[in-house]
Amino acid sequence: MLVRLAAVRRLIVVVGGVAVLAVAAGCGGEGTVKPLPETVVGKTPTRPAVVGNAAAGKQVFVSTGCGGCHTFKAAGTTGKIGPDLDKYLTGKPPAFVRESIVNPNAEIAKGYNANIMPATYGSDLSAKQLADLVAFLTQK
Ligand code: HEC
Repeated sequence: MLVRLAAVRRLIVVVGGVAVLAVAAGCGGEGTVKPLPETVVGKTPTRPAVVGNAAAGKQVFVSTGCGGCHTFKAAGTTGKIGPDLDKYLTGKPPAFVRESIVNPNAEIAKGYNANIMPATYGSDLSAKQLADLVAFLTQK
């Protein structure tokens, strides 16, 4: 009987320990607590690269209101508050265009002021929308 009790107690200690570990694992996590896989077979999963679609990007450009500030022929917009993207984006690599949208104050287009273009697109737009937008703005 005594032995059994000790075993039960040990079990409780072990279960308690696991619970504490689970809580600790949840701390600082993304909010959901998932059990960790014991073994990882093959490559560890990485986020798949999002491939942008220029046609979808045009919709994003128009619906997000970029055209209110930017002239861009392909979108049929004539905004004048920001630089004419037909002129400014010629020859610019996709990474630069993406950075200009997500973090507009990282580099200020010559002759224009900072803090006019909203700096919230990085969180307002999904990764897919951003990729689409960049594909649209950099298409030839
Ligand atoms: C309220 C006006 C406004 C809106 C809306 C706006 N922009 Fe801008 N944008 C600016 C201004 C002003 C600049 C120039 C200053 C700077 O570089 O931040 C700029 C700069 C840029 C640049 C960099 C150009 C260069 O050569 O450096 C890109 C690319 C750009 N905007 C794309 C977009 C896209 C795409 C959207 C929509 C998702 C958008 N902008 C919405 C005002 C705006």
